[in-house]
Amino acid sequence: MRMRAAILFEQGRPRPYAASRPLQVEEVALEGPGRGEVLIEVAAAGLCHSDLSAIEGIRPRPLPVVIGHEGAGIVRECGQGVTDLRPGDHVVTVFVSSCGTCRYCVRGRPNICPSGFAARAAGTLLSGARRIRRLNGEAVNHGSGLSLFAQYAVVARRAMVRIDPDVPLEDAAIFGCAVMTGAGAVLNTARLEAGEAIAIVGLGGVGMNALFAALAAGAERIVAVDANAEKLGLARQWGATDTFLATEPDCAGKVRAATDGGLDTVIETAGTIRAMELAHAITARGGRTVSAGLPASDAAFSYLHAQLVSDEKSILGSYMGSCVPERDIPRFLGLYRRGRLPVERLKSGFLGLDAINEGFDRLAEGGVLRQILRPNA
Ligand SMILES: NC(=O)c1ccc[n+]([C@@H]2O[C@H](COP(=O)([O-])OP(=O)(O)OC[C@H]3O[C@@H](n4cnc5c(N)ncnc54)[C@H](O)[C@@H]3O)[C@@H](O)[C@H]2O)c1
Ligand SMILES: [Zn+2]
Ligand SMILES: [Zn+2]
Repeated sequence: MRMRAAILFEQGRPRPYAASRPLQVEEVALEGPGRGEVLIEVAAAGLCHSDLSAIEGIRPRPLPVVIGHEGAGIVRECGQGVTDLRPGDHVVTVFVSSCGTCRYCVRGRPNICPSGFAARAAGTLLSGARRIRRLNGEAVNHGSGLSLFAQYAVVARRAMVRIDPDVPLEDAAIFGCAVMTGAGAVLNTARLEAGEAIAIVGLGGVGMNALFAALAAGAERIVAVDANAEKLGLARQWGATDTFLATEPDCAGKVRAATDGGLDTVIETAGTIRAMELAHAITARGGRTVSAGLPASDAAFSYLHAQLVSDEKSILGSYMGSCVPERDIPRFLGLYRRGRLPVERLKSGFLGLDAINEGFDRLAEGGVLRQILRPNA
């Protein structure tokens, strides 16, 4: 079939993207689903900072590629062997497609399944196939085994979770990355308990979900830190008890002074080394720093080793919020239905494929949370 897709041909073009146009919308050919794959109509896809990082080129990707890894859609056709979904079903996509049988998958850690990482590095689906071609015949790579900045997508059955059709697909899309990552970092990786205090450093789409999850889990105190004052205002309105501007002189010292030496749990959701340093500095003795931010692939974070030992601090990585999507997407949707994960607040407007470059300018400027692409609207 033919469809329109936004293709990234080159990483590292300068801003503004409205002028340099790193994403180019073209008509392309999409092959039907192979064995174990499903064709979905993309109803909504969120613009995540990880997509911006792909455009900036701070993490290399095989090119040309159709990126977009946070979305929801409607099943249109099931490939051979897919017997548990039918056309018309609503699904949320999963940006790490897992094999289900490796040592990580069987231990309940499909988010770190090597087959998903290998597919992403190769620019393919989990099966090793590429299903998108330019009209000149050139194969196009898949981003995160998904490629959602397009009208349709063929993806592995294992890269989606079926959801009830009552959830608006524009909200459901956000569960595919920002919710799993932010809420999962708090509830799965950090295992926050009721009555604990927490800080969140970086209040974008991911960090705001961490804030909602901290409230839902019964955090006693929620310290919110960002470099953007507007985000602090929103965080306070949405339940943060204390807010600090990261760019103020000695922000870490101020947080430590206000919290009797720092917090037991600190979640870093900004994606810069500066933010990670701040997060680690405001982690109390005996506490844990959980990092979900993804800086450049060669960026290194360092700490005073002796202090790490004597303070008994732990540093934990959190990829896709340590989620098991089949378990956690329904769980998080349950919290959303009860108003405990008010994801709908995070929508900062809708856009079509032709306005996608402008959308990434807005994300890079830092004023928006989740902009929702509707490629078929
Ligand atoms: N671990 C994962 O599985 C995973 C999944 C999705 C996104 N990510 C990463 O998470 C990060 C956040 O993604 P997002 O879509 O929410 O991004 P975003 O751009 O919406 O938000 C980032 C926020 O961090 C703030 N910030 C920047 N520098 C800061 C600093 N030094 N101190 C405090 N705050 C600072 C910005 O003002 C912004 O509000 C990115 O690095 C992204 O690549 C990771
Ligand atoms: Zn993402
Ligand atoms: Zn696996």
